[in-house]
Amino acid sequence: MTNMNQLQTMLRESCDAVLDLLGDREPEIGIVLGSGLGVLAEDIEDAVVIPYDQIPHMKCSTVMHHIGRFVCGTLAGKCVIAMQGRLHGYEGYTPQDIAYPIWLMRAIGVRTLVTTNAAGAINPAYSVGDFCIMSDHINLTGGNPIVGHDPNDIALRFVSMYNAYDPELRQLAKTIAAESEIAVHEGVYIGLLGPTFETAAEIRAFAAMGADTVAMSVIHEVIAARHVSMRVLGISLITNMACGVEAADPTDFEVFQVAHSRSGAFCHLITETVRRM
Ligand code: HPA
Repeated sequence: MTNMNQLQTMLRESCDAVLDLLGDREPEIGIVLGSGLGVLAEDIEDAVVIPYDQIPHMKCSTVMHHIGRFVCGTLAGKCVIAMQGRLHGYEGYTPQDIAYPIWLMRAIGVRTLVTTNAAGAINPAYSVGDFCIMSDHINLTGGNPIVGHDPNDIALRFVSMYNAYDPELRQLAKTIAAESEIAVHEGVYIGLLGPTFETAAEIRAFAAMGADTVAMSVIHEVIAARHVSMRVLGISLITNMACGVEAADPTDFEVFQVAHSRSGAFCHLITETVRRM
């Protein structure tokens, strides 16, 4: 685990490198693009592309369809920086590794995080292809990126997670989905380490715990963002019913296929939400 001073020094070095490459771009909104959802980065205009391996101390994506680069430019009239490819715990990355690009975004001036992902639906009222605005989460990853931080670190140690998902941004995304006739729900996301999909017994247990959706990302990013007081919006695309729901037995192939087929609606929902933020 990286101690505080080390982390601050690393962030400063990463921040200097990124700011050099951004020129006069000053991103205010950070967007993490989930599995199969990286296509939104193609809509960013006047873009500068920064592969993660060009940034000191930044880890690289190792998962197929996660390219592993920042794309910074204009989306819907706003300056955004998108992660085209995220880092996951199941790749062997620590919670701090996963949090690092979020802290880096904050260091370069980003105040709002939009994190997106592909998720399985535990709630039987949801359908494949629907979207779900995260109202809250349950952290079952077994980790937390703030573990080991000193209270005098980049931010305080004891972080409130009450309304971690900004109520106003949730309402905005729901309004835009309704206006665009995009099927949307609001629900509780449960985040796991993976990379195995869940058992049917686990999914029944998670349903009893109050979870509506399940996936293997997002949690550490959101904790990191709240740690440094960023506003957070979390949006899942339902790519499959979770294991055992309607006898589902999810596969990664299905996840990417559905993400690809819903990319138009996804790009519209995110772009219009960014426009009105
Ligand atoms: N489980 C875990 N992660 C996922 C799923 C799922 O059903 N779908 C997409 N990511």
